[in-house]
Amino acid sequence: MRKKLIAGNWKMNKTPSEAKKLIAELKELVVNDSVDVCYCVPAIDIVPAVEAVKGTNVAIGAQNLYFEESGAYTGEISAAMLTDAGVKYVIMGHSERRGYFHETDADVNKKLKKALGHGLVPIMCCGESLEQRESGETFTWIRSQIKAGFDAVSAEDAAKVVVAYEPIWAIGTGKTATSAQAEEVCGDIRKFLAELYDETTADRIRILYGGSMNAGNAAELLAQPDIDGGLIGGASLKTDFGKIVNYDK
Ligand code: 13P
Repeated sequence: MRKKLIAGNWKMNKTPSEAKKLIAELKELVVNDSVDVCYCVPAIDIVPAVEAVKGTNVAIGAQNLYFEESGAYTGEISAAMLTDAGVKYVIMGHSERRGYFHETDADVNKKLKKALGHGLVPIMCCGESLEQRESGETFTWIRSQIKAGFDAVSAEDAAKVVVAYEPIWAIGTGKTATSAQAEEVCGDIRKFLAELYDETTADRIRILYGGSMNAGNAAELLAQPDIDGGLIGGASLKTDFGKIVNYDK
């Protein structure tokens, strides 16, 4: 049985002092033993955020890492730095990073392997554009992103990865995929992972939905058999996030 993961992606929001304030505000609201909860915060917020969640059920995630071990890579953050700071999860391949910062499938694969090598839980994002959906390319596109992201990753490691399906047209637009649309793709991702690996491995991998998930639509999306949680942007910055975490209440 896969435990649901409700992950906030704060994107480029909240200064360190604002982060501490938000974490304190959410503290009592995000208690739910039946789900895992994490906040993927901006790099500069990681240290105070880890401190602020101590003794709670919340884990901290990063929004990016670099795939080299260490060295002359000005501005980058390594997997070792993240683990040393107390980070558990790390996002890679978000459509905003693919789009604005030219992160490629090959980069995503290297980041995924580096994260796994350091015991971090990768949250690997994939998702199609509106044009791709309208021209019927969704499944082949998502499968190509999954294939490249998991390239040369063992079944044992693959089982530790979290995949986040985030249709680009649903991100920050208020236009959520219907639960049927989201389930259709998440189900196909699992089917494809079973082809790449085996059924047991595919059944262990958590697949999240992301894209305008909010307190009003979370319960229906999270009731789908292949949706194992959410990656939440806008609504993770508000007390509403507590309602998403407690979608089953
Ligand atoms: P929104 O929830 O703001 O649509 O963002 C989704 C997302 O990109 C999470 O990574």
